[in-house]
Amino acid sequence: MHALVTGGAQGLGYATADSLIENGWEVTLLDRNKDSLRNAASTLGCNFFFADITDHNSIQSFFNSLPKLDALVNNAGIWVPQHIESMSVSDQTNVMNVNVLGTVLCTKYALPLLRNSEQGAIVNVSSLAAQTNSPGLGLYAASKSAIETLTKQWAVELAPIRVNAVAPGLIITEGTSENYRGEAGQLRAKAVPLGRVGQPNDVAEAIAFLLSESASYVSGQIISIDGGLGAGSPQR
Ligand SMILES: NC(=O)c1ccc[n+]([C@@H]2O[C@H](COP(=O)([O-])OP(=O)(O)OC[C@H]3O[C@@H](n4cnc5c(N)ncnc54)[C@H](O)[C@@H]3O)[C@@H](O)[C@H]2O)c1
Repeated sequence: MHALVTGGAQGLGYATADSLIENGWEVTLLDRNKDSLRNAASTLGCNFFFADITDHNSIQSFFNSLPKLDALVNNAGIWVPQHIESMSVSDQTNVMNVNVLGTVLCTKYALPLLRNSEQGAIVNVSSLAAQTNSPGLGLYAASKSAIETLTKQWAVELAPIRVNAVAPGLIITEGTSENYRGEAGQLRAKAVPLGRVGQPNDVAEAIAFLLSESASYVSGQIISIDGGLGAGSPQR
């Protein structure tokens, strides 16, 4: 069984690839960061492809070159926190392009391969931000709402390919670690019902489950991996 993980050079994508490999998958990492992609692929001992998911031509030719694909993890994503009054239109266009259009392109060109698989499945990576109405996120939360809508639409449109999403809460990765330094990290952990911020593996295991045979009757679901934060916070 062969899976492709976008944004697999670090963070949640890397942890997902690691988990899938442990579960017997053959994994290809796709990322736009050449150096960390090479390092990640060599550490994990897997294939890799260097590309930006918004680059229509390279994404199309990459998927056309793959002999086989059973699972797609649309994980690559970016965020540029900005208030609407001071936001840069080009920054936020970029957020929508990577998070929404990039996911759409990878899915579109992966489809012929996934249709040839007996167990084709997609996991999209949303965010708890899609539900929490936090201020100052620019278009990030809106981009993830679009991902959740597309997850449900594709679960209907692309069946029997299963399409689900995970919505991570506060997870420490290379991309977010600055937010958790010192006291800020402790304050954030206290806001989570389970009393800790998440690790990449918390999300990776859920993605591995959604791609596994154990989830063969699960489709169209958005699973929050947030230590209970979406349900509320113990702090007032
Ligand atoms: N870490 C969190 O707390 C958290 C919470 C909710 C959702 N998420 C989502 O999880 C996903 C991964 O987050 P992370 O924390 O691991 O981020 P990260 O910044 O640590 O890693 C993201 C990876 O994606 C790659 N990438 C970004 N844009 C790309 C593009 N256009 N083409 C190819 N590769 C690209 C980067 O090079 C990087 O290797 C994102 O979609 C993010 O929105 C993360």
